Amino acid sequence: MCGIVGYVGPQSATKVVIDGLRRLEYRGYDSAGIATIQDGLITFRKRAGKLGILESELEQNPLLNTHTAIGHTRWATHGGPNDSNAHPHISADGKVAVIHNGIIENFTELKNELLKSGVDFQSETDTEVVAHLLSEAMNVKDAELADALRSVCKRLRGAFTLVVVHADHPDLVVGARRNSPLVVGLGTAENFLASDVAAFIEHTRTAIELGQDQVVELRADSVHVTDFDGNAAQTSQYEVTWDIQAAEKSGYDTFMLKEINEQPKAVADTLLGRIRDNHIVLDDLKFDLDVLKSIDKIIITACGTAYHAGLIAKYAIEHWTRIPCEVELASEFRYRDPVLNEKILIIAISQSGETMDTLMATRYAREQGSKVLAICNTQGSTIPRESDAVIYTHAGPEIAVASTKAFITQVITVYVFALFLAQVRGSSMDIEALVREVSDMSAKVDVVLDTIEPVKQLAEQFKDASSVLFIGRHVGFPVALEGALKLKELAYMHAEGFAAGELKHGPIALIEPGVPVIVIVPPAKDSVLHEKIVSNIQEVRARGAKTIIVAEENDDIVEQFADYLIRIPQCPTLLQPVVSVVPLQVFAAEMATVKGYDVDQPRNLAKSVTVE
Ligand code: AGP
Repeated sequence: MCGIVGYVGPQSATKVVIDGLRRLEYRGYDSAGIATIQDGLITFRKRAGKLGILESELEQNPLLNTHTAIGHTRWATHGGPNDSNAHPHISADGKVAVIHNGIIENFTELKNELLKSGVDFQSETDTEVVAHLLSEAMNVKDAELADALRSVCKRLRGAFTLVVVHADHPDLVVGARRNSPLVVGLGTAENFLASDVAAFIEHTRTAIELGQDQVVELRADSVHVTDFDGNAAQTSQYEVTWDIQAAEKSGYDTFMLKEINEQPKAVADTLLGRIRDNHIVLDDLKFDLDVLKSIDKIIITACGTAYHAGLIAKYAIEHWTRIPCEVELASEFRYRDPVLNEKILIIAISQSGETMDTLMATRYAREQGSKVLAICNTQGSTIPRESDAVIYTHAGPEIAVASTKAFITQVITVYVFALFLAQVRGSSMDIEALVREVSDMSAKVDVVLDTIEPVKQLAEQFKDASSVLFIGRHVGFPVALEGALKLKELAYMHAEGFAAGELKHGPIALIEPGVPVIVIVPPAKDSVLHEKIVSNIQEVRARGAKTIIVAEENDDIVEQFADYLIRIPQCPTLLQPVVSVVPLQVFAAEMATVKGYDVDQPRNLAKSVTVE
């Protein structure tokens, strides 16, 4: 997720764009850049790091005052956070500047085509291919920039918002949108383009949201929108009522609620480019296939929520690949003198890529001769840099301290890797069917979010509970642990997750009338597991517990045992965590709100724990 701003009008374009980028910096802060047009050429400044670094550069090395500019804050997906990978990307003839939000799925084939034609690339990004393709398209006599962008967009697969300028058209900014957001701000003798309205609402509150596969030509006195074939598109204006702070949260009260609601897109973005013809494709996985065929054990190491993703991974990896898999708390791992060797693959899961416990475990494992695969959400962070290979989640920046979209994309990514392993090692499983099921998960998370309202009422109902218990079986057990962690870290309540089968071995003594027990129920078609958890529900109800049951939409068996019933879409048992965790996230966030706590920055916590 990146921040994009475009401007054409009488104000200083540099100032408008930089101010706009500051409002969007939460969308990405790996690098920042700006381009404008002077004396028939593109001029630009771009630097790795936060926006302030670019501003310092502009103080020392200013751009002339112009009235057209585009700017970008980056959340790296392809290519680490450095100056050359920063946007904008410039064509070889210096005439085109491009900024981009999203993932171009077929950039490798396009890049190879351009390399064959002698194009010299300056970066590792997917975006740069657009600069060169646009330049080619503009070399046709009397070519129009909007036509050129439309023709290029038709060759791209994936999710992209592109905003471009051309040196021969100093009064024009052109944008295109597929999947990633792009809004137009309509001013008086000036117009704006941005990833979201926060960038321009100090100038205008009149906006147009661009639709799918649309191109916009922006001049100071005109805005023209078409589809990718050049046909005029219907647009509708609206007035932005949010204040600036709300706009940075896309209208949600907290970043956490915004990020919970971004989960369908985060799942889709994480799968983008990794599924082709119902098979897993990991082109950028830097592991020799023979290494993956030779491993005879996997150890997953992580902390907190990432550890819970690892616990889910264990079930998927062992079931789909038959490779023994252990999961270890990173803070414990290296102190227990584990047996490690070159046949044991370590998977280090970390949103930030900077968690010291996980980093030290990674270093230790490599010293012992094991290879390490990082699963990480932050390009170029320390853990991926110190691993043998990395698979990035594409959740975008996660601002709230309590992890939600990063967790769900970690789970999706371990499914992807486990299926890839099964493919490489010649599993007899119906991989195509499993890949299709995984592909459906983004839409299923959407369904949960559409029906989440009743969950919010539960927080009020149980805000005075002295303790909340979470129980689950199979992959529902790690989900129970994650639900309990969310409630602890957000609402400061005692909460505990259990394997449901463990209750009778002691914890059931905690049950007394009124104790809320949240139950994650496996799919009814998983009859053995389902039967067992129904017994556990009856055990706690017999002692007066209040049961909040998370169960599939078609499960009419558990209805009679639920004081409160939360429905989730049907999916295979192993994939259920992707949907069953969402109501627990919302419950915890709402509980914190009801209690008047800071949802995004809970007490005592940090987003990345860089001490052991
Ligand atoms: C998640 O809600 C917590 N904030 C915390 O447990 C977090 O998951 C843990 O610190 C690991 O962080 P990482 O994923 O950045 O390594």
